[in-house]
Amino acid sequence: MRLCVIGAGYVGLVTAACFAEMGNQVVCVERDRQRLARLQRGECPIHEPGLDALLKAQLASGQLSFTEALENGVAQADVAFIAVGTPSQEDGSADLGHVLAVADALGQLLVRPCLVVNKSTVPVGTCEQVAWRILQGLKARGLKVSVTVASNPEFLKEGSAIDDFMRPDRIVLGCDDPHATALLQRLYTPFVRNHDRVLLMTPRAAEFSKYAANAFLATKISFINELAGLCARLDVDIEQVRRGIGSDTRIGTHFIYAGCGYGGSCFPKDVRALIHTARAADYPTAILDAVQARNALQKTLLFQALVQHFGGFVQGRVVGLWGLAFKPGTDDLREAPSLVLIEALLAAGARVQATDPAALEGVAQRYPEAVASGRLRLSGNPYGCAEGADALVLVTEWKQYRQPDWPRLRGLMRMPVVFDGRNIYDPGELSPLGFLYHGIGRPVAGHCKVTAA
Ligand SMILES: NC(=O)c1ccc[n+]([C@@H]2O[C@H](COP(=O)([O-])OP(=O)(O)OC[C@H]3O[C@@H](n4cnc5c(N)ncnc54)[C@H](O)[C@@H]3O)[C@@H](O)[C@H]2O)c1
Repeated sequence: MRLCVIGAGYVGLVTAACFAEMGNQVVCVERDRQRLARLQRGECPIHEPGLDALLKAQLASGQLSFTEALENGVAQADVAFIAVGTPSQEDGSADLGHVLAVADALGQLLVRPCLVVNKSTVPVGTCEQVAWRILQGLKARGLKVSVTVASNPEFLKEGSAIDDFMRPDRIVLGCDDPHATALLQRLYTPFVRNHDRVLLMTPRAAEFSKYAANAFLATKISFINELAGLCARLDVDIEQVRRGIGSDTRIGTHFIYAGCGYGGSCFPKDVRALIHTARAADYPTAILDAVQARNALQKTLLFQALVQHFGGFVQGRVVGLWGLAFKPGTDDLREAPSLVLIEALLAAGARVQATDPAALEGVAQRYPEAVASGRLRLSGNPYGCAEGADALVLVTEWKQYRQPDWPRLRGLMRMPVVFDGRNIYDPGELSPLGFLYHGIGRPVAGHCKVTAA
């Protein structure tokens, strides 16, 4: 099929590359010229395992191309996917500006029948708005072109996006038109050869399903984080409790890891948008409000624990940070817990030595003054970050931080103190090596003679 994908972000790029890989002819439209230039040169602008190679291969084969001009993208397209951002507005609602601008542009440009499919995460009723805007444009031009708008929310996870797209748990298709539904089912056939994982529903139900999924996952995380806080007071290790409950298939093992809060481009903004939708419908959301409040609190816990550990004297302390991206496998820093910690530490006068396998450039761009003054040192070497540190904080659980050389770290650090924001280390291993260990919702383990500055 001939496809157009509008927006070359995490979702658009993965969608374009994967559909091209299956033999479709894909034109991807991106309006950011810098990003576009990189893509046209065959450079992948984001860190996503496997994406770079896939893009290069599809560009070389001619199955995929990039353009700034939407008219080129849709000129021949049978299906046009909208994959532009829907960031939070100040009131928490989803900003539909990019999506609706695309709808207006399509109304001005379409000259032949086209199935428009929205992949962006949008509130219930947006498909109808998009369809109305396109039709207004067509009408103004005196054209009678058949246009159907469907909802196909994306469920990929950054860090495993290609795999998720190629082998989806499910494909949600919200479409009222049987011909359009059949076309989309055909397009997705190669991705669901072994199991029928295509779920058909109305566009409104599809739009709501995406928010429901993210809100549920965020709820699991905030739930376990709330219990972790209680565990800490009762001298119980949340890790043992996690294992104790995760073995129950009704609960499951996923998303019940206590930690320093969720971030990213989806959970925080989608929970906010769902709350906003509920407010507009005059419907109370006690659970979602609590999920959000717990997460905001959770992001401050590591700083609070450091302050307590240093007896209130943070100024001049050297803190090593491992992991800055909001999760492993990506360079995405949107709403990352690491940023809350960095800002609190810098404001309190600490010196921060931070590392990450993919997100250093993004952090340097966010804090140019702190970097220039040396208050924030960024390095690709985790051991370098621990040198002279009064504490080491694990924020993002990249694989490369899972089994460090503890004796080496012990020799490098000024004080052998570890704050484990993701509970990936074994306190029973660290304390005999002379480390003081703090987890999230776990008893403090080990001893370290620390004096307040
Ligand atoms: N990132 C994820 O993991 C993920 C997963 C599932 C769903 N989503 C949803 O998918 C949507 C896109 O997310 P993302 O993370 O890929 O966003 P993104 O911000 O990374 O990318 C959006 C891209 O669209 C481009 N763009 C905006 N307006 C355009 C226009 N008129 N023409 C051409 N290009 C345009 C931007 O320049 C940008 O490169 C959002 O609604 C998001 O909530 C994201």
